[in-house]
Amino acid sequence: MKLVTATALLSLLGLANAHGDRAAHRRHVENLAARQARTCFIIRCETELALTLSDVLASFLTSLDATNPTAVPLSAIVPGAVSRVTQTVEATIPAGTRPSAVPNAPGLPDCQFNQNKAQKYPKEDKVPPTDSPQVKRWKEEVKNSGVPIPNFSPTVEDADCRANPAAVAETSRCWWTCGQCEGKNEVSTCKEKNHWGLTFDDGPAFHTKELLDYLDEVKLKATFFVVGSRVYFLPEVLQHEYISGHQIAIHTWSHSRLTTLTDDQVIAELGWSKEIIREVLGVTPTHMRPPYGDIDDRVRNISLAMGLTPVMWTRNENVAFNTQDFEVFGNLTTIEQVLTNWNGIKTASANLDTGFIVLQHDLNQQAVDAATGYIIPDGLAQSPAWTIEPVINCLNMPMANAYIETNDNATNPFIAKLDGSAIATAGGPGWLLMVVTGLLLGLFAL
Ligand SMILES: *[C@@H]1O[C@H](CO)[C@@H](O)[C@H](O)[C@H]1NC(C)=O
Ligand SMILES: *[C@@H]1O[C@H](CO)[C@@H](O)[C@H](O)[C@H]1NC(C)=O
Ligand SMILES: *[C@@H]1O[C@H](CO)[C@@H](O)[C@H](O)[C@H]1NC(C)=O
Ligand SMILES: [Zn+2]
Repeated sequence: MKLVTATALLSLLGLANAHGDRAAHRRHVENLAARQARTCFIIRCETELALTLSDVLASFLTSLDATNPTAVPLSAIVPGAVSRVTQTVEATIPAGTRPSAVPNAPGLPDCQFNQNKAQKYPKEDKVPPTDSPQVKRWKEEVKNSGVPIPNFSPTVEDADCRANPAAVAETSRCWWTCGQCEGKNEVSTCKEKNHWGLTFDDGPAFHTKELLDYLDEVKLKATFFVVGSRVYFLPEVLQHEYISGHQIAIHTWSHSRLTTLTDDQVIAELGWSKEIIREVLGVTPTHMRPPYGDIDDRVRNISLAMGLTPVMWTRNENVAFNTQDFEVFGNLTTIEQVLTNWNGIKTASANLDTGFIVLQHDLNQQAVDAATGYIIPDGLAQSPAWTIEPVINCLNMPMANAYIETNDNATNPFIAKLDGSAIATAGGPGWLLMVVTGLLLGLFAL
């Protein structure tokens, strides 16, 4: 709990020093990755394969069809691996640049997302307050969207299934996390067989650039589900992703379990994420993924009311298409287990009539090394060849439909009545006040 205070203090110091801010943020992201791994709740985290480690070691490499010749060796993809010096993106992308994949996009905004301008944003990795003028306006828009928001109470205890028996029993809630229910208006597979919807969650982060370079090398595009409060620190990485033709989608502001939040808090999480992405890119995503896959019909409909279609990962009774790649960092799993998970995904995908969406992460070095060294090269070596693409394309839609401003409303209408005034303007509570509030909250948490 000391960490919370330390982080809040560093954020405060960071106000005067952008460099300190970034270093503090880096430590924060690394701690956060460890915390996410420790409290892991993604379905089947608990799955134990009845194989011994040596069985696994002997079998998994031979079961991969290819690896990258320059892969980081498996023995170096371990918790506590020496962190490579991370690259920053080379050049600032000029204002006005458009991604060639979205011909009707507005040009990139005229700023390297100047942090002073951004002082309206809530505190990093904390659920934003719900009493700001912006959140009040988004609440109004949700109310006027025409999408009914069901009256389910939030879940408790980190959305743990055992701690929420009533919510699990309430089947009309359609809780994905506990009970495997899939919502009507959400995406969890690709349309066509042997199409792989390539997705990376939790960035932008310090090794995202390495992943982007690799994807350029092999000429692949992916969907990045980004965390709003991390966009705040690495806006140039987000611009680079977007202009290179990757799909940008939302992964909330603070990476909290959405079913545990009130309606207003969910609105704040999604609203601020939309806002910061629009300010950095000039466009607003049409898709979101709930952290930990934690979604029910209340959260789904709030998302839809805000123009956001939920995107999950594929799963059936036996296999969740979750590599568990980010858990190597926190020593909750091993790279061998991640590749065993991957082999299970490949096998399961062959039995589907549809394509599939896999959960991967760009939050830490270990997850990026697994993707660039092993998982993607193996996917590229499949025969018959797989089509590896962003989720929007694997739904047979053009990249333009990934953004509210450029979506083709004739062929892909929004479920919600979206108000053109959804675009927020600067103003609102002072940043300093919010940092101090965060600091106090941190102290209370002691
Ligand atoms: C969620 O929204 C959809 C689309 O408007 C609506 O048909 C459905 O009834 C809503 N679900 C609940 C549980 O209210
Ligand atoms: C990871 O966990 C294993 C036991 O599960 C332990 O032996 C090992 O020391 C741990 N490694 C690190 C770096 O903490
Ligand atoms: C589609 O509708 C949205 C929301 O009303 C609007 O912002 C957008 O500009 C429309 N798309 C096009 C291509 O006009
Ligand atoms: Zn996540």
